[in-house]
Amino acid sequence: MNWLKNAWYVAAFANELDGARVVARKLLGTAVVMLRHSDGRIAALEDTCPHRLMPLSAGRRVGDELQCGYHGMRFDVNGACTLAPGQTHIPPKACVRSFPLVQRHGLLWIWMGSQDRADARLIPDIRWNEHPEWTSSRGYHHVEVDFQLAIDNLMDLGHESWVHLRTIGQGEEECIPNYPVKVTVRGEGLIHAHREMPNIEAPPFFAMILNHSGRIDRWQTAVSLSPSICMTDVGIYPVDTAPEEAFRGHVLHLLTPESATTTHYFWAFARNKRLVDEELTQAVYQAVSQTFDEDAVILKMQQSQVEKYGAAVPRVAMRVDEAPIRTRRLLEALVKRETEDPGFIYRPELMIDDTTPPLAMAQARGAQ
Ligand SMILES: [Fe+2]
Repeated sequence: MNWLKNAWYVAAFANELDGARVVARKLLGTAVVMLRHSDGRIAALEDTCPHRLMPLSAGRRVGDELQCGYHGMRFDVNGACTLAPGQTHIPPKACVRSFPLVQRHGLLWIWMGSQDRADARLIPDIRWNEHPEWTSSRGYHHVEVDFQLAIDNLMDLGHESWVHLRTIGQGEEECIPNYPVKVTVRGEGLIHAHREMPNIEAPPFFAMILNHSGRIDRWQTAVSLSPSICMTDVGIYPVDTAPEEAFRGHVLHLLTPESATTTHYFWAFARNKRLVDEELTQAVYQAVSQTFDEDAVILKMQQSQVEKYGAAVPRVAMRVDEAPIRTRRLLEALVKRETEDPGFIYRPELMIDDTTPPLAMAQARGAQ
């Protein structure tokens, strides 16, 4: 598969390893097993015994080691074999590949490429998932789609007016594609697609959040940082209030390919208001979860159509495709460089949130 190998991908939420749990997950086509050592260190190993290829996750955890459930071989968090029942000599090849794994912003980040290239300083700043000025509602979706189509979907928010009418979409009369998008590119892999929707009807989810059913100003910036991070910066406020007072959401969409046709979708809706309102945290979780369930249905159908027709999409590019297509091109260029130049290392932009509040809307209101 044409995945960028030398990059950090999200492998799990950090709390998934709480309580001595062992998490098995296929990432970029490779079976991986993760655990937290009793001293706090975290480890990711290939989930395959070097003897007869049994998944280590199908065996058991013994202290800080994994024991294969077939012949009892044990491996430490570095992948070294510490016990081979029936013999004292341990062949050098009886070891398991380990992957760099780093905890940051409440997430576990894995490096599936060359181990000596892994540099934790290349992990982008997505602090909103775990930050005192933001509160997150978090979830996970397993999506049956090529991860590139999942990214397309997040960079094309025009679909909200048809797919997400029950939560975040305006209806057809004020449909989202009617409002132009300004696309900007920075560095080798960062794209912002910004759109402002002044004086529109509040969709149900935003009416609930604002406790306001009248008209609102809304902005949305779809952000993509290659290879696998998307973020939607959303701002909403009643038309008679100031943009600086906006209820703001930073919606993290952290996509990690599982296989060519399936994707892990870790998400978090971080908000800047009503931070200790647990009921709201739950309500946001429910609404976002429902919204992404709707995406999952569409994406699965699209994947199956792409396979059926053996054709790439979009077959014909429409205006809403500008940001998705430019995002694809950036990633394709990175993959090409990595493939052709063994010395190439991608250095992503680390700060992805430079979107300012909607100046155009603020200025328009000031001029009234
Ligand atoms: Fe969607």
